[in-house]
Amino acid sequence: MSQNQEFENLANETRSFPPTPAFTNAAIAKPELYESARADRLGFWADQANQLHWHKSFTKVLDWSNPPFAKWFEDGELNISYNCLDRHVEAGFGKRVALFFEGEPGDTKVFTYRDLLNEVKKAANLLLKLGVSPGDRVAIYMPMIPEAIIAMQAVARVGAVHSVIFGGFSADSLASRIQDAEAKIVITADGGFRKGKASALKPAVDEALANQNCPSVEHVLVVQRTKGEVAWNPVTDLWWHEEMQVVSNQHEALGFGAEHPLFILYTSGTTGKPKGIMHTTGGYLTQASYTHKNVFDLQPAQDIYWCTADVGWITGHTYVAYGPLANGSTQVIYEGTPDTPDWGRWWDIIQKYHVSIFYTAPTAIRSFMKLGRKVVQHYDLSSIRVLGSVGEPINPEAWMWYREVIGSNLAPIVDTWWQTETGAIMISPLPGITHTKPGSAQVAVPGIELAILDEAGAPVGPGHGGYLTISEPWPAMLRGIWKDPERFQETYWDRFPGSYFAGDGAKFDLDGDLWLLGRVDDVMNVSGHRLSTAEIESALVSHPFVAEAAVVGAKDETTGQAIVAFVILRSSQLNDLGSEADTSKILRDHVAKEIGAIARPRTIIVVSELPKTRSGKIMRRLLRDVAEDRPVGDITTLTDTSVMDTITGKINAGHSE
Ligand code: WT7
Repeated sequence: MSQNQEFENLANETRSFPPTPAFTNAAIAKPELYESARADRLGFWADQANQLHWHKSFTKVLDWSNPPFAKWFEDGELNISYNCLDRHVEAGFGKRVALFFEGEPGDTKVFTYRDLLNEVKKAANLLLKLGVSPGDRVAIYMPMIPEAIIAMQAVARVGAVHSVIFGGFSADSLASRIQDAEAKIVITADGGFRKGKASALKPAVDEALANQNCPSVEHVLVVQRTKGEVAWNPVTDLWWHEEMQVVSNQHEALGFGAEHPLFILYTSGTTGKPKGIMHTTGGYLTQASYTHKNVFDLQPAQDIYWCTADVGWITGHTYVAYGPLANGSTQVIYEGTPDTPDWGRWWDIIQKYHVSIFYTAPTAIRSFMKLGRKVVQHYDLSSIRVLGSVGEPINPEAWMWYREVIGSNLAPIVDTWWQTETGAIMISPLPGITHTKPGSAQVAVPGIELAILDEAGAPVGPGHGGYLTISEPWPAMLRGIWKDPERFQETYWDRFPGSYFAGDGAKFDLDGDLWLLGRVDDVMNVSGHRLSTAEIESALVSHPFVAEAAVVGAKDETTGQAIVAFVILRSSQLNDLGSEADTSKILRDHVAKEIGAIARPRTIIVVSELPKTRSGKIMRRLLRDVAEDRPVGDITTLTDTSVMDTITGKINAGHSE
C-alpha cells in the first residue's frame, strides 16, 4: 500500500468519540486555554512558566533575535530539582508518594516526596564531593530503577548536565556518547532485571572505558541492583550505596539561569553519527509540566500515573523524571519487560497500584492485541481514566483495541506527537475537550503553531499530505546539537526558512484533524525507537564480510517498522562463509554488538548489486518495495535497470533470510 492509499483509508475514518460530560465538567484543561494562547501566545507561555518556582523572576519571555537559537525566560533563575521536590515538601506534601517502584522480580520500594528529596540531596552532595561543577557532563547508564531518577535529579540540582544513555546500547555506543560529551562521571549499576534474569550493565561501562578510551571520565558510580559479580577498577569505581551513606542530606538548591543547559540526549539522524540534542532548564520544565498536567488531565492528589518509557529515551525524561515530579504527582515505575513472568504483568501492575493514567507506545498495544483480550480480562483495570500513546503513528485498529479493552470504552485516548527535539508534547487532543478519531493525533496543543507545507514551502490544504513544520519557537525546543551548530541549522531550519522541519509527513483531514504519516527522511521508527539507516549501514560495513550495505525500514505489524538490510558480501571472504542463514546471524549479531540489541536487523538479504542512480545514490524506495513485498516502483533512473530483476528474482525464489 502506498502512503497515499493508506491515507485514503485513514481519511475515511468516520468514528469520532466525544468526551463524556462527566469528564468534561471535572477536566483540568478548559477551552479557554486555546483562546488565551491564540490571543497572546507569549503571555500564555509566561503564565505557564509562572506556575513554577523562580529563584529570580524573568522579565522577558522570548528572545528570537538570533534564530534558530531561542532564549526563553532568559533573565529568570530557577532550580529544576527544587521545582520537582523541595517546593512540594515545603507546601506540605512531603508524605505524598512520588514513586512506587516495582522491580521485575517483584520487589518493591516506595518513595514519598520527602524520601526522594532526601536521596536527591545526598546524591547532589556526592556529585559535589566528586568535583562536579555546573556545566559538567555526567553520563547515566542505568536500568529503570529509582536511582536513575535520583541521579538525573541530582545532576540537574547542582547545575550539571546529564546525558542518559539507554541501557540497551552497546559498549561502543556508550563510549562514543561519553567521548562526544566529555563526561566526567558515569553513573551505572551492576545490572538490572530483565526477562526473568539479571542482565549486567557494568561490563559495557568497563569495556567503554578500557585502555583510556574515555579519558574525560574520572569516576564511575555503581548502584548495586543485581548483586552480581563486577570487575572493579579501584582508581575510578565507587559504590553508590557506600558513598551515599557518608554524605550529608542537607543541600540547598541554588537558582540557575533559565537557559542553563539541563541535558544532552543522543538520537539518530540521517547520518551515521548520533546527534546530541541539547535542552535547557526553564522553557523545558515549563512545557513539560504544562503538557503533563493538561494532556493527561492530571489531578495530583488522586491520580496514579504510569508511563512505561525508560529514562533512556526522551519520554522517560519529560514524562517520568521531570513533568510528573514538577506537578507533584504519584507515579509508578517498572524495571522489567511486559512479559515477565507472563504477559499479565502490566495489567497486574495497573490493578495493584490503581493506575489511573497510563501512557505507552503503539508497539506494546499491538503486541497485546495479538495475544487477545483474554490476557487482560483477568485484571481489574477500572481505575484507568486516561490513556496515552506515543512514539509512532497508532493505527485505528490498535487505537480501538486500546479504547475498548484497556479503557472500557470510556477513557479518552491522547495520541501525543512530539520528538526528542521538541522536548515535550506538541500535538495531542486535550481530554475533556477534543473529540477524538482513532488514529489521529488531532490538534496542536495550545501555545504551539504548526503548518503542513509542500515541497515549495506553501501550506497544503486539507486532505493533502505534506511536511510537518513548527512555525513559531516553543519553550521546550532543542537549543542545538552538542558541538555542532551547523548540523542544527541544516537539519531543522534550512529546508523551510523560519520554520522548524520535523522530518515527519502529515495531513489535515477535511475536519481539520491532523494525521501523522511517518518519517520522510532516512530515519526508521522501530517499536517507537528512532534508528538511522546510515548508522546501521556503517555498522554492517564495519564487518569484514560486507562490501556494501543498504538498510530500509519495512512495515511491520507489531514493531511499526522493521530493519531490513540488503548486503553485498566481499568476494574475498566468500570462502569463509557458511550458508546464508549463518551469514545472516553473524551480521545481525554484529550490528547488535556495534550499536545495541534494538538495532539488530530483522532480515538480512544478500544481494550481488544494489539499485543506484547515475549519481551513485542508493534508491531506498525500491528496496523498500522489495522489503514490503510489493511491485517495484519506477526504475527509470537506475544505472542498470536489471538490478531490481535480480533482487526480486532472488526474493521470489525464496532465498531471503
Ligand atoms: C519521532 C520522534 C516523542 C517521544 C518518543 C519518540 C514519531 C512520535 C508520534 C505519534 C506519530 C509519532 C515521529 C517523530 N512519533 N510520536 N504520536 N504519532 N508519530 O521520540 O525518538 O525523538 O522520535 O517519533 O516520527 O518524528 P523520538
